[in-house]
Amino acid sequence: MRNRIEVMHGVNFDVLGRREAAHYGGLTLPELEVRVKRFARDLALEVSFSQTNHEGEFCEYLHRAAESADGLVLNPGAWTHYSWAIHDALEVSALPAVEVHLSEVDQREEWRRLSVIRDLCVGCVQGKGVDGYRDALEMVKEALER
Ligand code: DQA
Repeated sequence: MRNRIEVMHGVNFDVLGRREAAHYGGLTLPELEVRVKRFARDLALEVSFSQTNHEGEFCEYLHRAAESADGLVLNPGAWTHYSWAIHDALEVSALPAVEVHLSEVDQREEWRRLSVIRDLCVGCVQGKGVDGYRDALEMVKEALER
């Protein structure tokens, strides 16, 4: 059964609990991961997590992702908006991926409206806080069942 999903967090997610609560909900990353684990269990998915503040490391995780995962949920943070390196590494992974954002990036500053990974993703969820990760997991699951 192809049910292994890696949830990858990018830059500044290690300090999520200290970021603007109005946009990100005030949760810490471990708290978010507990919630996501529950969503995954309800959907019969096996979930693993990674986080890094280093763009090259994020790319290297993507290069190796297919060794241990069948699908991806990605929140690269600010890299979403400009990292063509992550775009290309995601392409190398060749895995179905969903882009997720806690905040509604399309309704914020102009520079957040561009996502350089969206064309490679089977879906995008934004503005739903942690609950958006449930939707993202469902979308990856659907893609794996297709
Ligand atoms: C974010 C949105 C990005 O614009 C921002 O740089 C983040 C978090 C979100 O989850 O809403 O770091 O990806």
